[in-house]
Amino acid sequence: MPGAGVQGRADVTGRFISFEGIDGAGKSTHIEPLAEWLRSHGRTVRLTREPGGTDLAESLRALLLAQPMDALTETLLVFAARRDHLQRCILPALADGAVVLCDRFTDATFAYQGGGRGFDPTVLGQLEAWVQQGRQPDLTLWFDVAPDVAAARRAAARAPDRFEREDLGFFERVRAGYAERRDAQPQRFAVLDAGQPPERVWQAVLHAVQTKAEAEAWW
Ligand code: TMP
Repeated sequence: MPGAGVQGRADVTGRFISFEGIDGAGKSTHIEPLAEWLRSHGRTVRLTREPGGTDLAESLRALLLAQPMDALTETLLVFAARRDHLQRCILPALADGAVVLCDRFTDATFAYQGGGRGFDPTVLGQLEAWVQQGRQPDLTLWFDVAPDVAAARRAAARAPDRFEREDLGFFERVRAGYAERRDAQPQRFAVLDAGQPPERVWQAVLHAVQTKAEAEAWW
């Protein structure tokens, strides 16, 4: 998408990178370092997350992580948050030529609501088309790790939210949901072995971004 320009620069093209993986995969650790790396290479960066990224979407996030609800309600709230986030954060940042780093996006809905909860993927696809109007990340970094490894990391790290309290079977289905999305759209996915030590994962993150940027002449 041709950018309207960072500080008036009409030559800058926005790029959209999403970070995905089951809870405990370690993806969030690498977002700020990647932002720093991109800034050191002269890029303007917008860091954001889903559900969240705007006041409205952050309010919906608080409900999603805490309140009991059925899979349809959960799905509608996730897409409502996404719509607001796209309209008021992601699309304007891309139009300004920024690199948007988004901690989760719609692949998480196919993985968690589709795979984890068993929600109909055809309906998810319809909501996706309606809300996103064809917009997809340019690159999705999938931090793939075995659910038992991720569970051990979560137990050591934090009090679990409503999703993190789910059992291993749920996270196996979420992981399978991510694999289906990767198989359906392999050109935008980079699969990273998130069972490795963080330094190795970081090298894989950099490699994936550089490879994609070179292949598609991003900058
Ligand atoms: P986070 O812990 O990575 O910030 O994500 C919050 C939780 O929200 C995480 O457990 C996954 C869940 N989630 C969904 O179930 N569907 C979605 O579409 C998104 C974006 C997140």
